[in-house]
Amino acid sequence: MNAGRGSRSGSLTRHDLAERDRTDPLAPFRARFRLPEGLIYLDGNSLGPPSRRMRARMDAVVAEEWGRDLIGSWNRHGWFRLPERVGARIAPLLGVDADEVIAADSVSLNLFKLLGALLRVTGERRVVLADEGNFPTDLHVAAGLTRLLADTGASLRLVPPEEFEAALAADVAVATLTQVDFRTGRKRDLQRVTEAARRSGVPVVWDLSHSAGALSLDLHRDGVQYAVGCGYKYLNGGPGAPGFLYVARELQETLDSPLAGWMGHAHPFDCGLEHDPAPGMRRFLVGTPPILSMMALEEGLRAFEDVAMDEVRRKGRALGDLFLELAEERLDAFGVVPGSPRDSAARGSQVSLRHAEAYPVMQALIARGVVGDFREPDYLRFGLAPLFVRYVDIWDAVAALGEVLAREEYRKPRFRRRREVT
Ligand SMILES: Cc1ncc(COP(=O)(O)O)c(C=O)c1O
Repeated sequence: MNAGRGSRSGSLTRHDLAERDRTDPLAPFRARFRLPEGLIYLDGNSLGPPSRRMRARMDAVVAEEWGRDLIGSWNRHGWFRLPERVGARIAPLLGVDADEVIAADSVSLNLFKLLGALLRVTGERRVVLADEGNFPTDLHVAAGLTRLLADTGASLRLVPPEEFEAALAADVAVATLTQVDFRTGRKRDLQRVTEAARRSGVPVVWDLSHSAGALSLDLHRDGVQYAVGCGYKYLNGGPGAPGFLYVARELQETLDSPLAGWMGHAHPFDCGLEHDPAPGMRRFLVGTPPILSMMALEEGLRAFEDVAMDEVRRKGRALGDLFLELAEERLDAFGVVPGSPRDSAARGSQVSLRHAEAYPVMQALIARGVVGDFREPDYLRFGLAPLFVRYVDIWDAVAALGEVLAREEYRKPRFRRRREVT
């Protein structure tokens, strides 16, 4: 078992991978990002890096829009319509139309809005169905909402992921699912699950946080009607960037958001007493959008201009296959086991490995300049954002991990201290 930074593994060499990078059609897009020299960044599924143009854009917004034109910018620079403008940039990444997506709030809030809106129109059906593999915030939101609506008979039913389809019973009002599991990268088939739910009369709100910007999505083809997702991961919108909501056009005006606010009003500046929901997706807005964050998200999305999402998906699968193959060859002996599906068709754009000492192992790896993250209980998680991750990065990351394990660097006390964010 070779744990060093050798130049050959099985039939592959590092040189082969450098060659793959040279002919990679996505390779030129790496230059769109500002990445620290010498760092291998495999955490774009948690926080995407800034684009190169981000700094100039933010400077211009602060100096010219906020700084010079002040309040006039709401009209002059289109601030008021930014949620739709940014939504329109997200739409092609989802395979939907520009007026079906809006950028707003966080994933948590957006999920609350959609689940709440759907529970208003599902009559006797009162169960929210979710699988336990969902990201925790989704489950907390669903639990909080059903507690709030307990006097209408609402309740939350949690099932193991593999039992989800069997649980689509006649009392289920709405289901919520994450397409790509945040721990394992396991990917659900949007079309098959949405269709199974439709046959049972159950609308599904998909959480596409780990899908948008990493997969080649076609929500129209797949019959998806409702989705939420994240702006700060693969969309590179910056820390705390707004999330997004998608609702199929013909359903938008059947829904009333339970978080009615003035920005979702048809005429916010009429300042009337009644809430008259805005037409289309604007009805899902609540309060004043965070303009600087919206601008940053818009700039992050520009990194996708002229990018073929089929190519992104193809490379994401190839990077993941390579990672798992190298890990199996080189890390087996150290008690590392795959934590993601081996079949790339069943995986998003991340791979996870499992190890009993995963937390300190990840800290030691980060100290070597390879950034991934840790998720309970024992997952080493690596996001493979195809626009800037190279094939040689995978080689070097696995080699560095091999060294951390072979030299038992993770035993050092400083790597064992738990930080607040893992
Ligand atoms: C699947 C999923 N949903 C939601 C979130 C977080 O949502 P929010 O924008 O509310 O923080 C995350 C964060 O990592 C996530 O992985």
